[in-house]
Amino acid sequence: MNAVTPVAETADLVARRPAGQSLEAPFYTGEEFFGLDIEAIFAGHWLFVAAEAEVSEPGDYVTVTLGPYSVIVVRDDEEDVRAFHNVCRHRGARILNEERGSVGNIVCGYHHWTYGVDGRLLHAESQAPGFDPKCFGLRSVHVRTVAGLVYICLADEPPADFDEIITRVEPYLAPHNLAKAKVAAQTDLIENGNWKLTMENNRECYHCVGHPELQACYFPIYGYQEQDIPPALRPAYERYLRADADARETYESLGLPYTAIEELDTRPTGFRIQREALDGAGESYTPDGTAACKRLLAEFPTARLGRLSFHTQPNAWFHLMADHAITFSAIPLAPGRTLVRTTWLVHADAVEGVDYDLETLTKVWKATNDQDAVFVARAHQGVSSPAYLPGPYSPTEQQVEAFVNWYITRLKTHLERQR
Ligand code: FES
Ligand SMILES: [Fe+2]
Repeated sequence: MNAVTPVAETADLVARRPAGQSLEAPFYTGEEFFGLDIEAIFAGHWLFVAAEAEVSEPGDYVTVTLGPYSVIVVRDDEEDVRAFHNVCRHRGARILNEERGSVGNIVCGYHHWTYGVDGRLLHAESQAPGFDPKCFGLRSVHVRTVAGLVYICLADEPPADFDEIITRVEPYLAPHNLAKAKVAAQTDLIENGNWKLTMENNRECYHCVGHPELQACYFPIYGYQEQDIPPALRPAYERYLRADADARETYESLGLPYTAIEELDTRPTGFRIQREALDGAGESYTPDGTAACKRLLAEFPTARLGRLSFHTQPNAWFHLMADHAITFSAIPLAPGRTLVRTTWLVHADAVEGVDYDLETLTKVWKATNDQDAVFVARAHQGVSSPAYLPGPYSPTEQQVEAFVNWYITRLKTHLERQR
């Protein structure tokens, strides 16, 4: 991709962004910021792009589109997950043109250069003497699997802190066995808003009264300090304290890590992880909080494990319960369009209609996603008005501020490197 040369105004807006309030309109609506976001944020950081369960067999692949980039994530014959630029080494054609599928080899449809699922060029017809196929393998993209979650990084030199983060979060994630799970459902939702509005919306529960289905099984106190909890949420807070005390006993007895680690804006790969109680029956994100899947993800002695929530900047969040897990990724499509991909994972041997009912499994988050899409679209419409002025974040929106801080810091770092 050609470097986006930031106009002086763009760099100035980044440099003088005041803390504690929403961004100025061009960050959300401007083409120049969209290009900068792809280059500085999405091409420069570790991105969650798929669950390992989406590529469970050798040859299974998904393609991921990020601005001008297309990446193939594929399981190779050694059962490792690999990632390659989806660009033929002959004359550059995009090779795989479906979102997902399964292949024996990766064959370019133009002149049929044929690559192995390990990226090696296996066959190129009618080449000149001296042609060395070893020089024309697919260009690889950095990839890591994190307890069943696939991350890629397009940068030549990815942020070096990710391996340390993997070491710290895998003890939380690994007990849920996601590497051995299967995909029960997946939805692609296009939100009519900038990707940062999608992420900001995800990082707070100030708006959670707008999620009736979620509120039945989720304590809507996310982000609140005790003194800031409004009277209407006090009963939920009291229930939360009791449920969380119980949950902690369970976590301790099972040796499941639960304490919050929150490093959202202090490092290149901002992240947060915490295990805590759910409301209702306390088992799952379902209309009454009971497990949606009888077959649990692992040999847990109880389904009442609440939720393990994991966030990574810039574009992902996850909820892992005893019975299922949900992954979310946000992919920018245009300044005012964002793809939100949601994937529900269950035990590989769980049978639909026997162990779980798809509607019960997906009901809460399908409804919540639809409601969030409305909020994000309205926010985008509002910030597109010439009358929009940045407004203050409430203390309960401190993770929104952390996201925006992280974002601004990463842009500054990128712009400094370009000087
Ligand atoms: S561009 Fe792929 S084989 Fe020619
Ligand atoms: Fe929401």
